[in-house]
Order: sequence, then structure tokens, then C-alpha cells
Amino acid sequence: MILITGATGVVGRETVRLLVEEGVEVAAVTRDPHARFPTGTQLVHPTKVPTIEGVEAILLSPRAAGSTAVDLLAHARETGAARVVVLSALTVQYPAGHARFRQQFHAGEEIAKDSGLDWTILRSADFAANTLAWAGQIQATGTVRGAYPHARTSTVDERDIAAVAALALTHPHHRGQTYLLTGEQSLSQSEKVAALGAALDRKLSFAEAAPDEIRRGMLAAGLPDEVPDRLLGSLADYAREAGPTTDTVRRLLGRPARTYATWARDHRAAFTAGGPR
Ligand SMILES: NC(=O)c1ccc[n+]([C@@H]2O[C@H](COP(=O)([O-])OP(=O)(O)OC[C@H]3O[C@@H](n4cnc5c(N)ncnc54)[C@H](OP(=O)(O)O)[C@@H]3O)[C@@H](O)[C@H]2O)c1
Repeated sequence: MILITGATGVVGRETVRLLVEEGVEVAAVTRDPHARFPTGTQLVHPTKVPTIEGVEAILLSPRAAGSTAVDLLAHARETGAARVVVLSALTVQYPAGHARFRQQFHAGEEIAKDSGLDWTILRSADFAANTLAWAGQIQATGTVRGAYPHARTSTVDERDIAAVAALALTHPHHRGQTYLLTGEQSLSQSEKVAALGAALDRKLSFAEAAPDEIRRGMLAAGLPDEVPDRLLGSLADYAREAGPTTDTVRRLLGRPARTYATWARDHRAAFTAGGPR
């Protein structure tokens, strides 16, 4: 059985789907008793994880596992698990944004390395799904107000991260590997908005705003400080120097990484009035 923490997140959910499709037995960890997964998936509340037997491999989402990560991996090892795949960020290797965020990811990697399990680390670029934050503005006005329009990253499609995770969870020869997962195309924020416009067949624009204005707007909307800190810190750095681009997805999966344009087409409904947010 494979245990997926953060199973309702964009990476966890797709990893569950891929593994179940391959016929693998999956336990999905979530606090939500009503979470829906493919038939056959075992739903596990985080407090019940220590009661699960027969786990071979774990997908560790440090945010979801939080302070229970060390105990969770220790228990898994004692009960015969072989490996852990940890979701991390490429800022650990290519610093951008505030140091405390990459330190959190580094700590998650260290927990996996110290667990005694075989480990694989997935250091990802910014997820394409982060741009779902633009959906409300796009639906309402067709203009995204944001700071640092020229900040460039090779955004990764979270479905590609999940495909690599599923591979590393089921194949032992990825042990001891640290993979840098990005898309293959470096795009500025305005170019991403234009790609969404092409997918929606609508002219969209990006309006530059001062970072302070964006921060105030986020705080006024009830978001914690952490959200603008995380976003604006990294965008400021990516405006100075583009984030890295790798071909790791292509090397591991034998096909190119999905493009942002593909992601935009596949998520059109989220940006359409009345569509899911
Ligand atoms: N977004 C990015 O650009 C990016 C880039 C690199 C790495 N990452 C990392 O990749 C990992 C996966 O991200 P993701 O967006 O798929 O999902 P995620 O943020 O890990 O969240 C997945 C699920 O974990 C649970 N969860 C979240 N916060 C929690 C908390 N404080 N305490 C307990 N449970 C919590 C929630 O599930 P339930 O409510 O169902 O319990 C949530 O749906 C995260 O660790 C993230 O930090 C993200």
C-alpha cells in the first residue's frame, strides 16, 4: 500500500488517481471525511495514520504532515515501509524569496533523509495551479492586477509532479535522487495571462501594481501575512533573474513537460464566469 499525505492537494490528488489507475492500493490522508477519491482508495484521517499497516511507500507533503512527519516516517519504517518521496521546492537549490520558506522545505527533506527510509526528493518550481488565484479577477474584469509583471519562471504542471511522484513511489531505483521539476518554458506573469487569454479566446491583460498595494489587498481579503510574503518575495527575485528551467520531467517520463498553455486549456472552466473557482 502507498500512503499519500496531502491527498486533497493538487499533487496528492493526482498521485492518488495515477496509482489507483495502475492498480496500486492507496491510502489517502485527509481531515475531510467527505473527500472523494477513485473507488478503492482508503481514506485515512491524519490521527489514524499510526494504525495503518502494510505501507510500502509514503508521499510526504511537508505542509500537510507538519509536526507529525518525523513520527509518521518512523512508524512507517518500523512497520516495514521501504521508501519516502518528499515534495519540496527548487528554492532550496536556487534561492528566491524569503529564506524561511526554503528553510521549511529543507527541513522536510532532512526529515526524509534522517528517516532511515530510501528517499527521493522532488524540488518543484511554482505550480501552474497557483495561477488559479487569478480566476476571480479574470472572470470579473479580464485584467489581472499584480506586482512584477516581468517575473519569469518555468512553471510546472502539478500533474507532471504527480506522475514523477507515482514513478518514484513505485520504483526503487529513484532512491537517493533529488529531482528539479520545472516546465520547459520560461514565461513572465504577463505571458501567462496572455496564454490564459488564448485558452479562453478572450483578450486579457496584466496591470502592474505596486507590491505594497498587492500586499494590502491580500491582507484586506483576510489572507495571512505568509501569503504575500511568500508570493512577493519570490516574484521580486524572479523579476531580477528568471527561475531555472530543467528537462527532468522529459528525462523521467519520456515525454515533454506539459506546457502552461496546455494547463490553461485544461483549466478553462475555472476562469469562466460561473465556472469552478
Ligand atoms: N504551490 C507551489 O508553487 C509549490 C511549489 C513547490 C512545493 N510546493 C509544496 O508542494 C506540496 C503539495 O502542495 P499542494 O498544493 O498539492 O497541497 P498542500 O498544500 O500540501 O495541501 C494538501 C492538503 O494538505 C492538507 N493541509 C494543508 N495544510 C495543512 C495544515 N496546515 N495542517 C494539516 N493539513 C494541511 C489539506 O488537506 P485536508 O484539508 O484534506 O486535510 C490540503 O488539501 C506542499 O508541501 C507545498 O508546500 C508547492
